[in-house]
Amino acid sequence: MTGLALVAGGTGRLGTQVVTQLVARGVGVRVLTRDPQRAAHLVGEQVEVFRGDVRDPTAATRAVAGADIAISAVHGFAGPGRTTPTSVDRDGNIHLIDAARAAGAHVVLVSVVGARAESPMELFRMKYAAETALAASGVPATIVRSTAFLELWIELLTLTAGRRNRPLVFGRGQNPINFVSVRDVAALVDRVVADPATRGQRFEIGGPDNLTFDRLASMVAAHRGELTKPRHLPRPALYAMANTVGRVRPELGRQARAALTMDRDDMTFSDDATRTRFPDLPDTTAAELLPLPRL
Ligand SMILES: NC(=O)c1ccc[n+]([C@@H]2O[C@H](COP(=O)([O-])OP(=O)(O)OC[C@H]3O[C@@H](n4cnc5c(N)ncnc54)[C@H](OP(=O)(O)O)[C@@H]3O)[C@@H](O)[C@H]2O)c1
Repeated sequence: MTGLALVAGGTGRLGTQVVTQLVARGVGVRVLTRDPQRAAHLVGEQVEVFRGDVRDPTAATRAVAGADIAISAVHGFAGPGRTTPTSVDRDGNIHLIDAARAAGAHVVLVSVVGARAESPMELFRMKYAAETALAASGVPATIVRSTAFLELWIELLTLTAGRRNRPLVFGRGQNPINFVSVRDVAALVDRVVADPATRGQRFEIGGPDNLTFDRLASMVAAHRGELTKPRHLPRPALYAMANTVGRVRPELGRQARAALTMDRDDMTFSDDATRTRFPDLPDTTAAELLPLPRL
């Protein structure tokens, strides 16, 4: 595919890598962002920046006009305020889908492994609502569902480690969770964008590692030079956070509830089907992203 790709969420962790890969293949890219300064690292001959918010249907329509494909890598999980999974992951994506239908464009929607109508997590329910709206829209579309991004969690554990190098783990930290590198997910998004034969299909991608947070935290600490034990925010503190400060700042409530779910539910994953279909996808391990320093 050549032509023009609209990337909503193009300024984000995943979106930035998707934009880079599209540009490398000679595809023109329009990045939709609420703040063009966040797209400064992407600006180039093949990249145009469009200021807009997916919660605004008019902005979505204008952003997608003239594009051959609309790629959605947005989420509203982190807030604040009215930026929520409901307003961004469901309604914003529906605006993009409507815009794509009007423009005759295809859609690639990034969603989450585990998205379902009765999920305890609002984000997962709203991703599922967007997937359902997409299926009903008749727009030629491909869905890419991913497990948790390794780079995000490595960054958060690194940020909380402090001077004593003890990363903070939410909950018991004993539940195995599948982590995937953004690099692998971006490669899959790029493959499906380029391959119209994937329209009407859904692909799930995870990484080679099912790790507990304690294990990932230990790897982060060791990578920083010293093997130390993580600190824990116990489950009762997470419940309290969800029910007190979470009422005033809903994004903190969402984070606490998500942490409780990730600490308890089955978050393991094996994605043989997707990797069989795309055997050349990278399969990045946590150890590759966190090489241990030489002693
Ligand atoms: N992080 C994970 O562990 C994970 C796991 C599975 C799936 N995913 C999915 O992967 C995709 C990318 O996630 P990420 O972690 O790379 O995201 P990220 O780095 O947190 O970036 C979020 C992006 O969403 C955009 N956005 C948010 N609200 C918007 C709005 N109202 N209008 C327009 N754009 C808006 C932001 O754009 P501006 O700020 O520039 O406006 C930004 O580019 C998302 O669909 C996410 O649900 C993530």
